[in-house]
Amino acid sequence: MMLKIWVSWLMIMLLLCSIATAIAQRPAGSKPGCRDKCGNVSVPYPFGIDDRDCAENEDLYLNCSQSDGDDPEKLCFYNFPLLNISVLEGSMIISIPTSYDCYNQSGLLSEVPCIINLERAPYTFSDTQNVFTAIGCDTMAFVSNEEVTYGAACISLCNETVSLADNSSCSGSGCCQTSIPKGLKSLYISSMSLQNHTNISDFNPCGYAFLADKRSFKASDWQLSGWPDGNVSDVVIDWVVETKTCEQAQANTSSYACSNNTNCSENGQGYRCECKDGFTGNPYLSPGCQGNLLLRLSQT
Ligand SMILES: *[C@@H]1O[C@H](CO)[C@@H](O)[C@H](O)[C@H]1NC(C)=O
Ligand SMILES: *[C@@H]1O[C@H](CO)[C@@H](O)[C@H](O)[C@H]1NC(C)=O
Ligand SMILES: *[C@@H]1O[C@H](CO)[C@@H](O)[C@H](O)[C@H]1NC(C)=O
Ligand SMILES: *[C@@H]1O[C@H](CO)[C@@H](O)[C@H](O)[C@H]1NC(C)=O
Ligand SMILES: *[C@@H]1O[C@H](CO)[C@@H](O)[C@H](O)[C@H]1NC(C)=O
Ligand SMILES: *[C@@H]1O[C@H](CO)[C@@H](O)[C@H](O)[C@H]1NC(C)=O
Ligand SMILES: *[C@@H]1O[C@H](CO)[C@@H](O)[C@H](O)[C@H]1NC(C)=O
Ligand SMILES: *[C@@H]1O[C@H](CO)[C@@H](O)[C@H](O)[C@H]1NC(C)=O
Ligand SMILES: *[C@@H]1O[C@H](CO)[C@@H](O)[C@H](O)[C@H]1NC(C)=O
Ligand SMILES: *[C@@H]1O[C@H](CO)[C@@H](O)[C@H](O)[C@H]1NC(C)=O
Ligand SMILES: *[C@@H]1O[C@H](CO)[C@@H](O)[C@H](O)[C@H]1NC(C)=O
Ligand SMILES: *[C@@H]1O[C@H](CO)[C@@H](O)[C@H](O)[C@H]1NC(C)=O
Repeated sequence: MMLKIWVSWLMIMLLLCSIATAIAQRPAGSKPGCRDKCGNVSVPYPFGIDDRDCAENEDLYLNCSQSDGDDPEKLCFYNFPLLNISVLEGSMIISIPTSYDCYNQSGLLSEVPCIINLERAPYTFSDTQNVFTAIGCDTMAFVSNEEVTYGAACISLCNETVSLADNSSCSGSGCCQTSIPKGLKSLYISSMSLQNHTNISDFNPCGYAFLADKRSFKASDWQLSGWPDGNVSDVVIDWVVETKTCEQAQANTSSYACSNNTNCSENGQGYRCECKDGFTGNPYLSPGCQGNLLLRLSQT
């Protein structure tokens, strides 16, 4: 008798445990009735595709380009491929072309800067997740806003080739790095040389400059001897749901984006929503974040 009760209790606990796990692992999710993926990239609410009503507002309505022959569906942000959206961190990852300048013994061959303007209000280049990086042996690289009124630079020099290993420090020989200013909404990146790669163009014809996601940047992906050929880098963009302060947003309950059991969080550009401690789910979707009572039960 006791054993029977104990066994059924155990069964219930196991069931609760699996439900709790399912809730905890549930992806952020799209608005009901809306497609939650473009190609293999998840599109969680407050973002949306296909229909303007699938997104919280116009600024978060994204373009999913239709597949075209062998080209699979692609999620686009401006004209750049969007690779990942995180509701938890209020960020996303896009892929952008690198800036470069190339030389041979006779001098400059080509020079391509990179200019991006996120005029759409709720986006900034993440200063905490990105690191500005330059690759080259005669390379002075520069990053700023489009108007070139604030920014940073780094210089990398070498007189012989160095191999860029993942544990190399990118501290100025073959590779240099620096952080970017907070709140950048446009980007102007260019690389130039001090001596036209004189005496080094055999092993290093080009200098490169780009922003890179700290978490995925690998120096070993780059070769000093490489020529540009569609080289891209992953860049982290921070987003907010609206460019208002929490106080301003909460003043109008019908337009406030955060659902039940959430906190409002500000980053200087606007606000976004987070589940309260101990709650999980998509903080922008009704009915809001869910308490993890089951999770707590199953852990006892
Ligand atoms: C998504 O698709 C692209 C190309 O279709 C592929 O290169 C990439 O590895 C895929 N990513 C994941 C996480 O499956
Ligand atoms: C999406 O991109 C396509 C191709 O670039 C363009 O024709 C279309 O107007 C865009 N749609 C939206 C909603 O921006
Ligand atoms: C997006 O990022 C999350 C967490 O960083 C990761 O688990 C997931 O695999 C990524 N998805 C793609 C398509 O890169
Ligand atoms: C450098 O490149 C230019 C343009 O492609 C070419 O005309 C010139 O011959 C090259 N010089 C050398 C020394 O390779
Ligand atoms: C590079 O510079 C160092 C220090 O001046 C020198 O010892 C080395 O021989 C130089 N290498 C080449 C290939 O010129
Ligand atoms: C970097 O890694 C390589 C091989 O993985 C190793 O031989 C080398 O000693 C490491 N260098 C430093 C500075 O840790
Ligand atoms: C680099 O090349 C340009 C023309 O291609 C020339 O005007 C300049 O003087 C050169 N600079 C150096 C340091 O050799
Ligand atoms: C290139 O090498 C020559 C011969 O070694 C040397 O005289 C010259 O100063 C070097 N130029 C530069 C810019 O390093
Ligand atoms: C740029 O991409 C091409 C093609 O993938 C590669 O051969 C080249 O080495 C890359 N450039 C650098 C500097 O790594
Ligand atoms: C509150 O938000 C709603 C929906 O966006 C809007 O129609 C209304 O005008 C706003 N009210 C005020 C006082 O701003
Ligand atoms: C949410 O706000 C409460 C009260 O301000 C705070 O104690 C809590 O740490 C916040 N939780 C998160 C996840 O930010
Ligand atoms: C909050 O929860 C209540 C009751 O569970 C529900 O009626 C309401 O729609 C939720 N509010 C939002 C904004 O999801």
